[in-house]
Amino acid sequence: MSPSVLFWGLVALMGSSEGLYLLTHSMNPRLHPRLYYGCYGDILNMETAGAPCDIARPINCGIHGSEMFAEMDLRAIKPYQNLIKEVGLRHCVDPALVAAIISRESHGGTILHDGWDHTGAKFGLMQLDKQVYKPYGAWDSKEHLLQGVGILANNIQTIQKKFPTWNATQHLKGGLSAFKAGSDAISSPMDINHDLTDDLLARAKFYKRHGF
Ligand SMILES: *[C@@H]1O[C@H](CO)[C@@H](O)[C@H](O)[C@H]1NC(C)=O
Repeated sequence: MSPSVLFWGLVALMGSSEGLYLLTHSMNPRLHPRLYYGCYGDILNMETAGAPCDIARPINCGIHGSEMFAEMDLRAIKPYQNLIKEVGLRHCVDPALVAAIISRESHGGTILHDGWDHTGAKFGLMQLDKQVYKPYGAWDSKEHLLQGVGILANNIQTIQKKFPTWNATQHLKGGLSAFKAGSDAISSPMDINHDLTDDLLARAKFYKRHGF
């Protein structure tokens, strides 16, 4: 059997584009296929204005501002890269988006005290509000990250069911807004928190370019 017959035979056996992706990637390192982006749309195709420019933040805003903050947090988040990818895969959520939330919420954990924010209200890398969720595990553990990303996935799915006519970008932005404010707070497109989601998307695009 020729190598190419064997190759396509294996692809047929694996029977999925993901199998093809993994196989071509491992067989030819010069190919750079798109990184995994999960079930909730391709963030690279989503438009974003980045962090808002307002009186509170007249500079360091826009896409450039978001990227600057993402870059500042890159070193703190890098040690969690494999964990973030594994947990993203488990919940079918783009790892770059998880990295973006960790950057925005806790700067990769660097501003936390034993995992808590300075008010003692929010816990962990993704800063779950203790009033709403009972946090599991240590603040930077796999168990805790699985909980946080699971909550995010649930929120996106809730928004998808609640607003079946919305497009993927609106579902994702609605889910990200609900992750912070609860899904009850989202009852129309007007309730999407664009300041939050534009910043997160711009940071996520940065992390995507850095291998997340
Ligand atoms: C999704 O809907 C929003 C709001 O109507 C719109 O601005 C955006 O361009 C849409 N995105 C796509 C990919 O169609």
